[in-house]
Amino acid sequence: MPRLIDGRAVAQKVYAELREEIANLKSRGSIPGLAVILIGDDPASRTYVRAKDKMCRELGLHSVKLELPATTTQEELLARVDELNRNQKIHGILVQSPPPPQIDEAAIVRALDSQKDVDGFHPLNVAKLALDDETGFVPCTPLGCLRLLRESGVALSGANVVVLGRSMIVGKPMALLLIRKGIDATVTVIHSRTRHISEICHRADVIIAAIGRPHFVRTEFVGEGATVIDVGINRVDDATNERGYKLVGDVDFDAVAEIAGAITPVPGGVGPMTIAMLMSNTVKACRQITSSSTPG
Ligand code: GUN
Repeated sequence: MPRLIDGRAVAQKVYAELREEIANLKSRGSIPGLAVILIGDDPASRTYVRAKDKMCRELGLHSVKLELPATTTQEELLARVDELNRNQKIHGILVQSPPPPQIDEAAIVRALDSQKDVDGFHPLNVAKLALDDETGFVPCTPLGCLRLLRESGVALSGANVVVLGRSMIVGKPMALLLIRKGIDATVTVIHSRTRHISEICHRADVIIAAIGRPHFVRTEFVGEGATVIDVGINRVDDATNERGYKLVGDVDFDAVAEIAGAITPVPGGVGPMTIAMLMSNTVKACRQITSSSTPG
């Protein structure tokens, strides 16, 4: 069996670091605050939002959970965002994706105060990532993947890394992070028009799968000893499970684990890291906002 990359254990390490920084901020009169907006009642989104709120509370952060009806209009949502932008107790704002169809998500993201955009989706933060400006916010999932790779001791400098998927939430920011000076990976991004996918993947030292297709990465994609990071969280029918479904990744774990050098499980791999990085971004937002504001 390959080495399992334990996301829960690495997330605990992140929380231990954050607890120190939170205590420090509190001693100076600041409590990091996160507002999460959920529109509608998608069950998966509801589960994620609950987990974020719970983790804030465990760390002693100020947490605001806004649950809005599925009929919420763009104007109503913009008004809520505007209130939160001006709320001094709130340092991070997240609008759970995907919103209902009447919502123009890109316009909502542009309306966020970029200093509170802990998702890293605002155009200014996307630009800062491309510019290697460390004051920006990097999306939580790629940030979590990078931390997992580093904690696992995987050599990234000069390594061939294949990223499957080009989404704005994972694939694109993941590629930008990995080619940063100091990280220095060589990155190939695979998408729906890419040819010879299994051959390209087979040459990779590291595969990061973020395409949202259950068990897409099979044994023929993976070279002996490669590191495999599975971002996928897919619900597939499972009559033997009392919920009627089970969660599987984008990687055919059981088969690929026979070949990989190290691999993340689903659940318990990338998932816990995404929340840990959201907490980390919220603490960073608090630090940056409070250190730039003039007292009194
Ligand atoms: N939905 C799935 N992942 C994410 C995320 O990282 N941020 C937000 N806002 N919504 C999501």
